[in-house]
Amino acid sequence: MSDLTVEHYERVAPDYDEHWSYDPDYVRRFTQAIVDSLRLTRSDAIADVGCGTGLYTRRLAAEVEPERPILCVDPVPAMLERVPSTKSLQPLAASAEDLASGRVAPPGRLDAIVLKESFHHVAEREETLEGLAGLLSRHGRILIVMLPRTIHHPLFREAHERFGELQPEPAKIVDMVSAVGLRAAVSYRTFHTAIDRERYVRMLESRYMSVLGEFSDDELRAGIEQFRHAYRNDPVLRFDDHFAFIKGWVKPG
Ligand SMILES: C[S@@+](CC[C@H](N)C(=O)[O-])C[C@H]1O[C@@H](n2cnc3c(N)ncnc32)[C@H](O)[C@@H]1O
Repeated sequence: MSDLTVEHYERVAPDYDEHWSYDPDYVRRFTQAIVDSLRLTRSDAIADVGCGTGLYTRRLAAEVEPERPILCVDPVPAMLERVPSTKSLQPLAASAEDLASGRVAPPGRLDAIVLKESFHHVAEREETLEGLAGLLSRHGRILIVMLPRTIHHPLFREAHERFGELQPEPAKIVDMVSAVGLRAAVSYRTFHTAIDRERYVRMLESRYMSVLGEFSDDELRAGIEQFRHAYRNDPVLRFDDHFAFIKGWVKPG
């Protein structure tokens, strides 16, 4: 994992939950989509890899009430430290690569692995996916939730361009899921979002998306000016947040 990524998440950790939740209903709807997609049940052994502060993992635990704690895996201590200490969540300081390579072992076989908006940070993606697939039980499944390369967030032009350069293509990840021997499928989900413009300015200022960490202070300031001009007549911003839900299942037999 690059130093830039670590620095980015160390910087955003204190305000992460405020910026990334949009509103409590957004988190609830999103988590429900994950539960439905993976058909999670109480008896599943679940890991959330790249769980961050556990913003969505907490909600997952509340929805599913799993019999075993959800394994909350993240390599950035500043993020992981914010996972609440409750018996339904078990923090583990590790990257996806650490788990995949066996450098860090989960307590047992996993029935469900969630990677929500973390897989784009993984460098050796196919190798990591193969290792993670190897941790699954006979009825194991994996879910990669990621943004497509074109997004509708009200970012400034350069941020959109840079995002498109950095973000992997979901179709390639679907191919990778198949290549590591899992049955693969992708669906797209849309979450309608409304946010006060001034709140969004604060989110941009704090570089709430990792792509914003690519810009110097002056570049970011210029981008925010561009944003302010473009949305000068919109005190509330409304946009559709589209996500690819890429699922892989262990093939029977
Ligand atoms: C955009 S945040 C998403 C956090 C959480 N899943 C959520 O949706 O709120 C990305 C997370 O991925 C973590 N991360 C970065 N590189 C990673 C890697 N190689 N393996 C696992 N997680 C990683 C970061 O520390 C960060 O917490």
